[in-house]
Amino acid sequence: MHLALSAFGIGPGDEVITTPVTFCATVNVILHAGATPILADIGDDLNLDPVRVEALITPRTKVILPVHYAGLPCDMERIWELAREHGLKVVEDAAHAVGAEYKGRKIGSGKSDAVCFSFYATKNMTTGEGGMVTTNSEELADRMRILSLHGMSRDAWNRYGKNGSWYYEVVDLGFKYNMPDILAAIGLVQLRKLDRMNARRAEIAARYNEAFAELQEVQLPPDREDCKHAWHLYVLRLNLDMLAIDRAQFIEEMGVRGIGCSVHFIPIPLHPYYRRVLKLRDPCRRALAEYPRLVSLPIYPKMSDGDVEKVIAAVREIVAKNRRRRVVAANRSGREERDGQEGA
Ligand SMILES: Cc1ncc(COP(=O)(O)O)c(C=O)c1O
Repeated sequence: MHLALSAFGIGPGDEVITTPVTFCATVNVILHAGATPILADIGDDLNLDPVRVEALITPRTKVILPVHYAGLPCDMERIWELAREHGLKVVEDAAHAVGAEYKGRKIGSGKSDAVCFSFYATKNMTTGEGGMVTTNSEELADRMRILSLHGMSRDAWNRYGKNGSWYYEVVDLGFKYNMPDILAAIGLVQLRKLDRMNARRAEIAARYNEAFAELQEVQLPPDREDCKHAWHLYVLRLNLDMLAIDRAQFIEEMGVRGIGCSVHFIPIPLHPYYRRVLKLRDPCRRALAEYPRLVSLPIYPKMSDGDVEKVIAAVREIVAKNRRRRVVAANRSGREERDGQEGA
């Protein structure tokens, strides 16, 4: 992402619009480029809301940087339209979305200027560390290649080949962002397994959805008819007003049952560093309201059916034990309602 922003010449004075519900890396790359991150609130799908994006566009806006949260593609048509109308670049953070599809096309092959994948160890496919950028522009690809290797001229790529030459020129201020060949070799094998691994993730998500559909105390993760979800994360939203415990206690209860959960993500505006350096133009109310409800359940291709059932049983048990019921008690003057914890 830093490479793509740098290749576009994004720098001081420029604004890049992104989501508050993302990993710190999304915002860090904007800051490292010297530009200003502008956070636009999320919609019901927990992805960047194009309506909020539009409201934040100024003459300084240069890039929209959507994140396909959890592996669910954003409303890209609307984002591309905004970019076209206002002459902006679109750089996708597809860290969660390798193998996902938007309207029949793989994420990475759409109309964005650059799409950035992460192959970090936890991702749907991995090279241990590293990532990939896709683009439809030869010019941008060339520029990113040069910047990813110290800014050395293209000829340097072939320095040691049969027709190579010792001669090269540094044509720009570059970085050392190349993927090591050894990691790329791992990636090629992972790529062959990707569809199978993603299919297993989808199977697990479908089983979770089926099991949790009957629980009013939780909200299932969003999905879209016209998309293929990569199910990098399975994020339940707790209906906290129906539960006598909060999210931290829920995660603790899961832990007691031997199940590790996580939270994706602590919204960007809540971190001390960003509180110091970012001025919020959009208060990101939705993001802040959703945050206390988010719980990521385990999901990974090697999870056995038994593991999945164990997670389901634990969620059901914790919800049943901590259900806040509308207890209806009769008294002489009629019926009185009060909140109560089942069994309390
Ligand atoms: C949404 C998002 N963007 C970017 C990254 C950063 O990727 P990497 O670890 O490959 O730098 C991550 C996670 O690692 C992420 O979750």
